[in-house]
Amino acid sequence: MPNELYFCDMKPIIAPSILAADFANLQHEIEMINESDADWVHVDIMDGVFVPNISMGLPVVEAINRHARKPLDVHLMIVNPERYVEAFFKAGAKVISVHIEACPHLHRNIQQIKALNIKAGVAVNPHTPIDLLKDIIADVDLVCLMSVNPGFGGQKFIENTYQKVKELRQLINQRQSSALIEIDGGVNEKNAKPLLDAGANVLVAGNFVFSAPQPKEVIGKLKALA
Ligand code: DX5
Ligand code: ZN
Repeated sequence: MPNELYFCDMKPIIAPSILAADFANLQHEIEMINESDADWVHVDIMDGVFVPNISMGLPVVEAINRHARKPLDVHLMIVNPERYVEAFFKAGAKVISVHIEACPHLHRNIQQIKALNIKAGVAVNPHTPIDLLKDIIADVDLVCLMSVNPGFGGQKFIENTYQKVKELRQLINQRQSSALIEIDGGVNEKNAKPLLDAGANVLVAGNFVFSAPQPKEVIGKLKALA
């Protein structure tokens, strides 16, 4: 089944991570994303329990959604995500990912997201084996492969991610899944192309975009990689 959030043109989906934006100027930052070649807005939700940091909550996501003209890709780094999935949907999420490590009933979590008619993703920490996805891969629209330990922006990319992308691409092919592979953490000009070559479809980029003097140009360069 074609994934309509992926425009099937073989170009990568670029999802700037708002976590690295200037929170005092969110409207301006979102307008920059609107005017850029970015496809999605990646929104990191951290609860201080599943990850050792707290980021933003529903009112901020609603505010982002009022200005964003691109789909919100909401990455829930929280325990008991089933308590909040509907609220994030109402706040504007078009993709919601939950962590496999936070979900003993992952299949149920994925069904809950899909019942809202949005895309359902599963996020996996750097130490979590790809094998654990084999009985869920056919049900998800996206796998968010963490290439840093979740909780903070601006961390160093973990090199083992390349191997995991290859394994995941194989699993997706074997199981005839239409899941997109999203890479989250430490994406930059050096690793972006090799990640796409290994089989990734979606690149999240926080600091690489927002700490650049010309963020739109950085987004354009990532989008131009094939
Ligand atoms: C990490 C977050 C990432 C982060 C990426 O916990 O899930 O989305 O914002 O930021 P960079 O690209 O700066 O590593
Ligand atoms: Zn994220």
